[in-house]
Amino acid sequence: MKAMRIALTKGRLESSTTKLMERSGLDCTALRDKGRKLILPIGDGLEAVLAKAGDVITYLEHGVCDLGVVGKDVIMERGGQFFEILDLQFGKCSFALAAPEGADFYGGYGRKTIATKYPNVARRFFQSKNMDVRVIKIEGSVELAPLLSLADGIVDLVETGATLRENGLRVVEPVAEVSARLIVNAASLKLRKREIEDLAARLEAHLDK
Ligand code: PRP
Repeated sequence: MKAMRIALTKGRLESSTTKLMERSGLDCTALRDKGRKLILPIGDGLEAVLAKAGDVITYLEHGVCDLGVVGKDVIMERGGQFFEILDLQFGKCSFALAAPEGADFYGGYGRKTIATKYPNVARRFFQSKNMDVRVIKIEGSVELAPLLSLADGIVDLVETGATLRENGLRVVEPVAEVSARLIVNAASLKLRKREIEDLAARLEAHLDK
């Protein structure tokens, strides 16, 4: 039978993903020592590919990978046609609205400007408050925007809070909790239900809770 293919997000989530798969009894030698090879056999009829978070979702949507591991942040921003079947309990952080220390973010009548890497998440958050804001998309180091007076606030991921603190910013309001999720292509979930459920159960039994 054709190998099931799982797309893993490289970078931040990579080592926790490998550890979880190892605890679950999968052979992650190829993942730990990957060289230049892009499709990596991990035993038990499974193959892994490492990809950028957005690409993990693209591969699933096009049906070239059956399963994926991706952060809820990317799922919330991109959406897409797939099923989210398991909270993997690592890569935990949160989306928050932050503004300069001492500033009254909700004060005044002027339209506020928000800088973010996650414009859809930010727009939805302010829509839910019936608040009309201007959203500016930034690719990285979003914390700079209020310091440069480009924005009144930011919607960004906060893990330890150190980046905010060191730049004179504070959380105004939490937006959403984030962690890594196991996602599945819709057709695969029908056609390979048993295999997918077995793998999900195996991973769930070895989560680091
Ligand atoms: C993320 C996020 C914050 C920081 C939060 O950035 O955008 O800047 O981590 O972490 P902390 O609360 O522990 O300080 P990342 O490192 O992914 O880089 P980026 O700024 O280029 O997006």
